[in-house]
Amino acid sequence: MAPDNRIAICPGTFDPVTNGHLDVIGRASAMYDKVVVGVVNLPWRKGNTVFSTEERVDFVRGATRALRNVEVEPFSTLLVDFARQRGAMAIVKGLRAISDFEYELEMNQLNRRQDPEIESVYLMASAKYSFLSSSGIKELATFGGDIEDLVPAEVVQALKERLGR
Ligand code: PNS
Repeated sequence: MAPDNRIAICPGTFDPVTNGHLDVIGRASAMYDKVVVGVVNLPWRKGNTVFSTEERVDFVRGATRALRNVEVEPFSTLLVDFARQRGAMAIVKGLRAISDFEYELEMNQLNRRQDPEIESVYLMASAKYSFLSSSGIKELATFGGDIEDLVPAEVVQALKERLGR
């Protein structure tokens, strides 16, 4: 599909999706005509995920139901190949702190080298989510911390069942 500057991909592992991810997806959906959330489906990457690909996709679908221009799909190819296949011209990601910058710079160079036509766009995390990560959430959930305002209700429940002690 020819790249279309009105279509963007929001990629991630989303294990699980957090309100910080949803903030970025919501802001991207206001900027582009269509946003495709790409959920990484590569079992060997980053070790085992707590949630299966189907579960991670379902959580994002459930939490973005009200956003009419957002679609959610798993992908198991290079990110730029997925973007190309979906006709996207932009990859939209959130940036929290300096610590994200180094990793994202590397990913940016890799992705641009594969396909210079697909531009990566970075949205600065909203202040209230600037500390939020999926791994932090899993750690809180494991030890019974309060995660109610940090992830969708469905995810709170699933984390309690999967990780709670
Ligand atoms: O930090 P995340 O959520 O695991 O990021 C996943 C993703 C796909 C956004 C990031 O790994 C990336 O930009 N990768 C580019 C290289 C690539 O295409 N890898 C194959 C898919 S993981």
